[in-house]
Amino acid sequence: MTSTTPTNPSPATHLLHRPRRLRRTVALRRMVREIHLDVNDLIYPLFVMEGEGQRVEIASMPGCYRYTLDLLLKEIKQAFDLGINAVALFPVIPEAKKDDVGTESYNPDGLVQQTVKAIKQVVPEIIVITDVALDPFTTHGHDGLVDEKGTILNDPTVEVLVKMALSQAAAGADFVAPSDMMDGRVGAIRKALDAQGYFDIGILAYSAKYASAYYGPFRDALDSAPRFGDKKTYQMDAANAREAVKEVALDIAEGADIVMVKPALAYLDIICQIRNTTNVPVAAYNVSGEYTMIKAAAQMGWIDEKQVILESLTSMKRAGADLILTYFAKEVALMLASF
Ligand code: PBG
Repeated sequence: MTSTTPTNPSPATHLLHRPRRLRRTVALRRMVREIHLDVNDLIYPLFVMEGEGQRVEIASMPGCYRYTLDLLLKEIKQAFDLGINAVALFPVIPEAKKDDVGTESYNPDGLVQQTVKAIKQVVPEIIVITDVALDPFTTHGHDGLVDEKGTILNDPTVEVLVKMALSQAAAGADFVAPSDMMDGRVGAIRKALDAQGYFDIGILAYSAKYASAYYGPFRDALDSAPRFGDKKTYQMDAANAREAVKEVALDIAEGADIVMVKPALAYLDIICQIRNTTNVPVAAYNVSGEYTMIKAAAQMGWIDEKQVILESLTSMKRAGADLILTYFAKEVALMLASF
């Protein structure tokens, strides 16, 4: 039997709904697209180190660098020109400046504080978010103070975090971002900021931060891996979702302006639940390990890097993230600009 293409096909089947009608052309697909990635959603995390004129690639994060302040400022200017509104800063602290209690974290002339001041002089409009946690500053690499048994002490840590947040606010940070997961730190920081007149400085709380192996490359970048034990007594268990809702509710009650879920890609269900149970902006942290997996696979020629980046970030937004911290921020801004 020979088959011929029917020139005037009679509809063999009557289907009321044919979802493919809306997928037929580029314009149609654009018209019915439910969410749009936007450069305004992006927050660019950056690593700053002491010195001048240097940019050192992070071995486990190809395409990502530690910058000395002069070069960091150039990078930030470029990012701002691409439409990126916000940066999140992470300092590389030399071993000689670390101690058991993270004293350097609240040095008014410390690396972060100096960096914030310089950014505010050069690109005053960009939103500067500073990390509040002790791990880059402690010899043991934990986010808090540790007693002789190796227990991470909650309330004494919060006292140091408050000093750290105040020093960052004094330097000109727009948002402080506690990433330590101590109990009660958001409330303590809010109270202290207000008492010093910093009522306009916001808190972006790492509310549902999981004890995750996806942070490995970040710890390489800062040389901040814990020297003993792990972070499971303060960061959350990957198996828990209801607890994330509780953590977020507590942080909002304590004064968080924006809440965050971290990591992002393996925790899209958490982003979705948080979005559905809160009314504050929700941020997702597309963490170092997520970045590295895409870069590594792309370097092998096994995936289409650009498409996978866009698909990943789109999924975070679809899950309910309003904001995305991502090391891909500049690449994404460039892609969005060329659509
Ligand atoms: C520090 C901090 C970490 C990250 C952000 N802030 C590491 C950790 O908690 O060990 C991870 C970010 C990333 O992996 O991209 N408290």
